[in-house]
Amino acid sequence: MVDNTTESYALRMVNIEKYFGLVCALRNINLEVGRNEIIGLIGDNGAGKSTMVKILTGVYPPTSGELYVAGRKVDLRTYNVKKAHEHGIETVYQDRSLGEKQVLWRNFFIGREITLPFGFLNVKKEKEISSEIMVNTIGFRGKGITVDSNVSLLSGGERQGVAIGRAMYFQAELIILDEPTTALSLKEVQKVIAFVQKIKEGGKSCIYISHDIEDVYEISDRFVIMDRGEIVASIAKKDITLKALDEFLLEYSHGMKDKEEK
Ligand SMILES: Nc1ncnc2c1ncn2[C@@H]1O[C@H](COP(=O)(O)OP(=O)(O)O)[C@@H](O)[C@H]1O
Ligand SMILES: [Mg+2]
Repeated sequence: MVDNTTESYALRMVNIEKYFGLVCALRNINLEVGRNEIIGLIGDNGAGKSTMVKILTGVYPPTSGELYVAGRKVDLRTYNVKKAHEHGIETVYQDRSLGEKQVLWRNFFIGREITLPFGFLNVKKEKEISSEIMVNTIGFRGKGITVDSNVSLLSGGERQGVAIGRAMYFQAELIILDEPTTALSLKEVQKVIAFVQKIKEGGKSCIYISHDIEDVYEISDRFVIMDRGEIVASIAKKDITLKALDEFLLEYSHGMKDKEEK
């Protein structure tokens, strides 16, 4: 089913709710992610960010609501991680996204191997494509790292880059990064930021979650702020400076505290 009003978006969530037993983790989530838009998703611990990611990536079903990807309504009763991939939604986890003991070229094709007739792995083709992804898609500059290198040789930021490159190669429309820079050094964070800019240049969309407001500010087109399971603000970057965003978040959390004390 094609809905014209949603076609211009990479993703649209309509009244998504998620309960864990009696606990409401998400309430009234209405969010559109534009094509080629980078959204910075901000919120304190427990705000519901990761739960939203898990719903979008097919890990959990929502309790209620609708999901549209590129204008097509998703059948949430049958939605799962594989279906999310088919819809072009990919996520990159901090540690789990790359197999430590694997060589890089194999890693790119986990679960989507290219085979020759009779089912043999097309090693040559897989290596060629891996190399192409590393050099051209993500502009990999790691010294001495080739497609034959072991994943364990890569730094944290480089691993994020490989995972992002893989998602881009498989034509992900929307790449979701949930705290990709946690536990990375400053220099490594800069690498991840550069990779996210590749997503933007590649014409794709991204939801970027981080505690670091400066990083979020740098790479996002729009900021979506969540608090206790709800979206409380959506602000375009052109309408707010970093300082004003910082102040807004501070004031917002103080305002909430004041209310609680009454
Ligand atoms: N699997 C789960 N079972 C029960 N409660 C959960 C589960 N996952 C998340 N929650 C609850 O949902 C709320 C939102 O959590 P989460 O989405 O992880 O927040 P964030 O990523 O913004 O820190 C929290 O109150 C959390 O305890
Ligand atoms: Mg989280």
